[in-house]
Parts: sequence; structure tokens; C-alpha cells
Amino acid sequence: MSKVKVFPAEKFSLSMDEIAPDKSISHRSAMFSMLACGTSEISNFLRAEDTLNTLEIVKNLGAKIEDDGTIIKISSDGIQESSKILDCGNSGTGMRLFCGLLSSANGHFILTGDEYLCRRPMKRVTSPLRDIGAKLDGRNDGDLAPLSIRGASLKAFDYVSKIASAQVKSAMILAALRADGICTYTEPELSRDHTERMLKGMGAEVKVDGLTTTIAPMKELLSPLKIRVPADPSSAFFFAVAAAITPDSKIILEGVTLNVTRIEAFKALERMGADIKYELTDDKYEPVGNITVSYAPLHAITVEENISWLIDELPALSIAFACAKGVSVVKNAEELRVKESDRISTVVNGLMACGITVDEYKDGYTVKGGLLQSAAIDSHGDHRIAMSFIIAGLRCGMEVDDIDCINTSFPNFFDLLSRITKVEFK
Ligand code: S3P
Repeated sequence: MSKVKVFPAEKFSLSMDEIAPDKSISHRSAMFSMLACGTSEISNFLRAEDTLNTLEIVKNLGAKIEDDGTIIKISSDGIQESSKILDCGNSGTGMRLFCGLLSSANGHFILTGDEYLCRRPMKRVTSPLRDIGAKLDGRNDGDLAPLSIRGASLKAFDYVSKIASAQVKSAMILAALRADGICTYTEPELSRDHTERMLKGMGAEVKVDGLTTTIAPMKELLSPLKIRVPADPSSAFFFAVAAAITPDSKIILEGVTLNVTRIEAFKALERMGADIKYELTDDKYEPVGNITVSYAPLHAITVEENISWLIDELPALSIAFACAKGVSVVKNAEELRVKESDRISTVVNGLMACGITVDEYKDGYTVKGGLLQSAAIDSHGDHRIAMSFIIAGLRCGMEVDDIDCINTSFPNFFDLLSRITKVEFK
């Protein structure tokens, strides 16, 4: 388990066109290619542990993959049973979406993951899938991986979800594509909508009306994907915070998806006083463009709505809270407790170690802006916790332990960071 020491940064002005490609879209592009007739072509696929695990699983499920290092071509004659255990690594998205995809496939499949993933709740997908006929099981009555799936016929459904989760929604949409009639899925708040956009782009009958998605079963295979994966706003956001907390700094983040369900954290940073501009450059499956973030003194805000639109960015946003004037409040964010770590507790404990006054609640926390102090932080194996506290180190210096997890989503993070400050690996 490696460690890093980060040194305080001087002002910087940079443009970054190498932000890691979007993780959500990369997972989906590999999986959805298995539903197409013909060869899908994916460029700028995220070559990080999570999404490479998904690609490997797709291969183990019988897809043919050609990779020239730039474009990944995937073709499939349908999902095949595999003699291998399908290892999702650290990825909740991988495991939950595969549950939906494999529930109706011919064969028996075993999904597993690393020690962290095997502790995360899976009943949110296994339970509604079982209700429509899926044969899924796992420890704790289907809540914990390893999971076993035996493909079965699925009944049409009208499912109303209590949680705004794109992973649950996507698993159910994938199941609906093979169910025996028209299905609807309703969520309490709109969660990220890449699945709906991409499947529609491939010709699936998916209609979105407010919070309800209606899905017709596939009559035939879908059209192949031809997609360039945009940069990941969740990864870009670490550098947005870097510019927002370093006096007189500016950063241009290029080629990022500007999908509204993904850029809420940038909007929150804007509400805090940061100067942020968006420039649309492309709009195929997704709106894509450049985001410019310039330093300005920050003030506290409350974040309590559309939480799923910034759930992944809350740890990094909390570093901005710590540098802002006043007390910031996060509410309705209990979902943070079941991410790669219990992110309410890892953020609160990390900020306390840095000398910041925080209060923890069941569904959120408060952060009183102050003077960040250098500390030794344990990532708890959570990539977003590791990167958030490394960014905090730009203000005051920081040591962060257990940083290998950064490879799950942002393998070139340190290459980009070294354009801003000095880092020493231990
Ligand atoms: C994701 C959905 C979100 C997010 C995760 C990626 C996806 O999880 O936190 O990092 O790609 O669908 P939930 O849907 O469980 O909130």
C-alpha cells in the first residue's frame, strides 16, 4: 500500500485535456456492446482498474474484443456462460449493472469483487430483480457478493424505487429489455441518465417522462455504439477544487461531459463564489465541452437537493467547504455511507484531522471553514477520499496513505497533479 506526500502549491494557470475518461459511460459502453448486432467502436475508453475489469468480464462472457490502443472494437454473438468467476474488483456500478444484464442471460454466472465491494449492499438490485423472476443469490439473503445468477425469464414490471440510484435504475432497465412486456421504472429524483441516452442512441425503445422511464422489450438486437467517451466530470472536479482553493489560479478542463446530472458539484462551487464558465463543443449521446474554473474567495452553502447529481463529488466539495467562509451543510446524503467507504465518516474524520470543525449527522455533516492543517490521512481504500485530501494538501501539505485505489478511476491523476505541485511517493 503506497503513500504520498503532497506539497503546498503556488498559483497556477493550466489547461488539461487528459482528464480520465468517464467511468460510468465506459462501463456502459463495454456492457451495452453485448446487446448490439455488429461491432461497437469505443474511443477514449477509461483504462482504469474498474472499467478494465468490466471489459475483461465482457470478454469472459464471449465478446470478441479488438484493441489497437486507441479504439476498442467489441462484437458479441450473445452472452455466453463462463467457466471464470467474474471479478468486478472495486466497482459497484460493474456488479449492479451486470446483475441486470445477466438476470435474463442463458447460463449460470458468479460475480465477485474486492474486500470493499463484498461489503456493499446488493439487495437494492437483487431484491427488485428477484421480484420479477430473476434467480439471484448471495450471502445475507442476496445482499452481499459473491453473487450467483442463473438466467431466467423475467416478468414485466412497474417499479417505484425509494432511492435515486442510477445503478439500480440501469440494472432494472437492462432487465426490462428482456422482460415479457412493457416496463416502467420510477425514481424519487432523477439520477444520472447515461443508460437511457446510450440505449436510445442504439435504437432501444426507452422513453423518459419526468421521473418515469418506460422500456419496451428488445424485438431485435440493437445498433452498435460508435462513441468517444468524454472526460469524467467527477475526476475533473478534483482539479476544479484545486483552482478554486488556490489564490489567483485558473484551470480549463477540456472535453468533459456537461450532462446536467453530472455537473451539479461545479454549480455548487459556483454558488460558493468560484468563477466557472461552460462552453459546449459537441452533443451526440451526451453534451460535451470545456469548463473553466477561476479562483475567487469562497463562502459556505447548503447542499440538500439533487444529491445524486453530486454524490461522487461531495468529498472533494468538502475540501472547498473547509476553505470557505462560514458553515456549509450537507443534508439528505445518507447514500454517502454505502459508497466505496462510508464517506460521511471518512470525510468528517479526515477534516477533523486537518483541524477543521465538523459535525456528523446520519444523513450528512456540517463543515466550518477554517485553516486547513497538514495531517496524515488514511484513504480507507476509497479513491475519491484519497484524491480529495491530496487536493487539500495543495493548501497546507498532506500525507495520504493507501493511494493505490486511485487506479480504479484516475490512473494519470499524479501526472496531472505534478503540473501543479511537488509530490513524493513513499
Ligand atoms: C454510478 C452511479 C452512482 C455513482 C457511481 C456511478 C453509475 O451510484 O455514485 O459512482 O455509473 O451508475 P448510485 O447509482 O448507486 O448512486
